[in-house]
Amino acid sequence: MPARKPLISGNWKMNLNHFEATSTLDKLRYLLTKDDYEAVDVSVHAPFTDIRTVQTFLESEKVSISIGAQNCHWETNGAFTGEIAPGMLAKLNVAYVIVGHSERREIFGETDIEVARKVTAVFANGMTPILCCGETLAEREGEATHGKVTGQVHAGIDALSAEQVAAMVIAYEPIWAIGTGRTASSEDAQQVCAWIRAKVAEMKGADAAAAVRIQYGGSVKGTNAAELMAQPDIDGALVGGAALDADEFARIVQYRLA
Ligand code: 13P
Repeated sequence: MPARKPLISGNWKMNLNHFEATSTLDKLRYLLTKDDYEAVDVSVHAPFTDIRTVQTFLESEKVSISIGAQNCHWETNGAFTGEIAPGMLAKLNVAYVIVGHSERREIFGETDIEVARKVTAVFANGMTPILCCGETLAEREGEATHGKVTGQVHAGIDALSAEQVAAMVIAYEPIWAIGTGRTASSEDAQQVCAWIRAKVAEMKGADAAAAVRIQYGGSVKGTNAAELMAQPDIDGALVGGAALDADEFARIVQYRLA
């Protein structure tokens, strides 16, 4: 089984308009090197209104950053005012779509069933889902972390083939660590990521578990990326706030130089 190539993803959330997106990418173009792209895969998950601009910039400048989205609908088209179809994203060369982010689940009421439909729709359109899971602070304190994460992962991958699971990305993002400056310790993050991999093995077999990439997300910064990435079951980072600053995001991508 070849080693898993880490994936560092910048989730811009509802930040950076298309002008700001271009200037951020222009800085990253100079900061990141061929060696970086050989060592890690990099994606940026821009707001929908930026994606065409991001595509034009990255393709015309030949920058090896993959285009990402933050969400999509599960249907192909139809009367879903305000929604974006996965096929529309695929047409813009989107490679990765974040699905079931805790902000989608908590603020917009997305259910495990909807998240599973989205995962399937992303695959059906030739893109790779990044399936998010993670517990609240109350769940962690109530020792309900494993149950919560297991339920979310189970629902998200149940309908998939072992080959699809091998090709996808799962992001473990404890909700209490998102945007709070409070990172899970690298031991805690590793422990839950290893648990997720064991659940994947039970459900989809050892090969799928050995291949699936599992990211950690929650207050990842240039100063803590190397320690998190050194953990055997952490294969990348899903970065929020620190991804808005090109220098800081580049430091995370270049964690191996720290
Ligand atoms: P922060 O890095 O701002 O904590 O956000 C993490 C996140 O939610 C990425 O999807």
